[in-house]
Amino acid sequence: MALRFIFAVACVISLARGGTLVEEAAKLGATTALDLLKQVGLDKTLETDYLTLFLPTNQAFADMSDNLSKTLASNESVLTGVLLFHATSGIFRAQDAVDDMLIESKLPASKIRVNTYDDANNAVFITLNGAKVLQADVLASNGIVHLIDRVMLPPLGNFYDLISMSDIHKTLKKLIDDAGFQQLIQTSKGTLFAPTDSAFEALFARVGRDNVDFAGLAGKESTLYHILPKVLYSSGAMNGTYTTYNMGEKLTVTISADGNSAMIDNMANVIVSDIPATNGVIHVIDKVLVPKAYRPDTIVG
Ligand SMILES: *[C@@H]1O[C@H](CO)[C@@H](O)[C@H](O)[C@H]1NC(C)=O
Ligand SMILES: *[C@@H]1O[C@H](CO)[C@@H](O)[C@H](O)[C@H]1NC(C)=O
Ligand SMILES: *[C@@H]1O[C@H](CO)[C@@H](O)[C@H](O)[C@H]1NC(C)=O
Repeated sequence: MALRFIFAVACVISLARGGTLVEEAAKLGATTALDLLKQVGLDKTLETDYLTLFLPTNQAFADMSDNLSKTLASNESVLTGVLLFHATSGIFRAQDAVDDMLIESKLPASKIRVNTYDDANNAVFITLNGAKVLQADVLASNGIVHLIDRVMLPPLGNFYDLISMSDIHKTLKKLIDDAGFQQLIQTSKGTLFAPTDSAFEALFARVGRDNVDFAGLAGKESTLYHILPKVLYSSGAMNGTYTTYNMGEKLTVTISADGNSAMIDNMANVIVSDIPATNGVIHVIDKVLVPKAYRPDTIVG
């Protein structure tokens, strides 16, 4: 009698926990991810290891830039790394998510950043390196699956590393170096709005290059005005003001009605969004932001 009862309970539990991670991923329709996992031989791991899998939808793979798709298709070691970045050992449930926590991925030395944001209806949702969780907590016999709307990329360095690697941020790098802000940029957690070199050229054309003192107070305050203490991935951004590191001064974020584009202070367009960094996220902008104290209208008025 007792034995039969235990057997019945065990059956119910195993039903509730579903199939293996591979079977659950297939049920969720994530065929692209499964094909890629198979291609690099990681599908076996999903049958045997005890894992949390962050599973991009087929649409997430279709939405990748051509460049990234080509790199993943042509370079198996990059593909393997990206796929390993989509899993963590053990069970991570939606209820375990705390804003800005970092979790170890299966890609050595690469952590996934967890964020929680409110949507327009004040409902909380979770992102992982900016990828939004579409369906959370799908239990498998050997782990748990969260379906996500983007392919996550491991960060290639901190803000300063990424700006130094970039071909279009030479002026920003000089500004950071002249202001003595290398360490600050390496360690400050949050969001960096990174103006391109042409954004700086436009500023110089307007106010005269000699009038821009990178090392002076205006340069320092302007640099700090480009960084938010909050890690703001585009999926979590809403219309509103956000506090910067410049003495708490706020900048204004405006999201288009369709949600596909963003402007900062009603003048700078975000032209590349969501570049992951170990200390947060970078968005590339096409104009240099200016704190209120240094805007021409303020100085004149
Ligand atoms: C394309 O990808 C390669 C390799 O990852 C990278 O070096 C290059 O900068 C990328 N090009 C663009 C336009 O993103
Ligand atoms: C794959 O990418 C890695 C890292 O960028 C690089 O070192 C390696 O040479 C690439 N391999 C091929 C076959 O392109
Ligand atoms: C943000 O505000 C702008 C201007 O007021 C408006 O046009 C836009 O639709 C708003 N965006 C969202 C996502 O509500």
